Amino acid sequence: MIAIKNERELESMRQACKITAAARALAGDMVRPGVSTKAIDQAVHDFIVHQGAKPSFLNYNGYPASACISVNSTVIHGIPGGYILKEGDIVSVDVGAYFKGFHGDCAATFPCGTVSAEAQKLIDVTRQSFFEGIRYATKGNRVQDISHAVQTYVESNGFSVVRSFVGHGVGRQLHEEPEVPNYGAPGRGPRLLPGMTIAVEPMVNVGTYEVRVLKDGWTTVTADGKLSAHYENTVLITDGEPEILTVTEGL
Ligand code: MF3
Ligand code: CO
Repeated sequence: MIAIKNERELESMRQACKITAAARALAGDMVRPGVSTKAIDQAVHDFIVHQGAKPSFLNYNGYPASACISVNSTVIHGIPGGYILKEGDIVSVDVGAYFKGFHGDCAATFPCGTVSAEAQKLIDVTRQSFFEGIRYATKGNRVQDISHAVQTYVESNGFSVVRSFVGHGVGRQLHEEPEVPNYGAPGRGPRLLPGMTIAVEPMVNVGTYEVRVLKDGWTTVTADGKLSAHYENTVLITDGEPEILTVTEGL
């Protein structure tokens, strides 16, 4: 069953998502050479708590931090720690906040100082693939219409989409139905209806789409050691254009 949120529920959801987006922005502003990933995580944690919300990821299935910070060839679920960011790194920050009964979930990849042309293209293509995808996030369409658009855009730019992790419904739970893959065939998957809220989150690799999970059970890296980027927003299906909920306007 895919939850349909009513207007009252959506008001809470919007608030949760604004806090989440502000946490992402704050993290992005901290990305520069010399900063540790744990310092960014601490700032994300303190901001979310100060807003009266809870970090969605902290203790989720035992996850030990508030943000996932995934540098260079780490795709997702990088655990913040003592690593010091250096010029040329690309830094994916994924955050979630729980407020008034609902979760927001969003991510972005930030350049640390000046990065290579390839790294910058990867960041730009990954972000744009999200927008290509949500052109299809309208009522009556099917989930994989989004997936197909993401995949087509990414592959036409010479990159690959990760297969073994996918986007998802988000709301009262961090992960709900439906799964939202970043690859697929038009016309497949559940039908989109107004009031559904989904996290669309392309994970894009320069090389192979294959990934592996390190022994810590979380850190997910590219199989070939090449760069990866991530971009995610929580999106509401409406009667018209999709509404991106993880925005900072009006906070
Ligand atoms: N933002 C991630 C997602 O979209 C969630 C991170 S998993 C956690 O699925 F365990 F770190 F919370
Ligand atoms: Co997500």
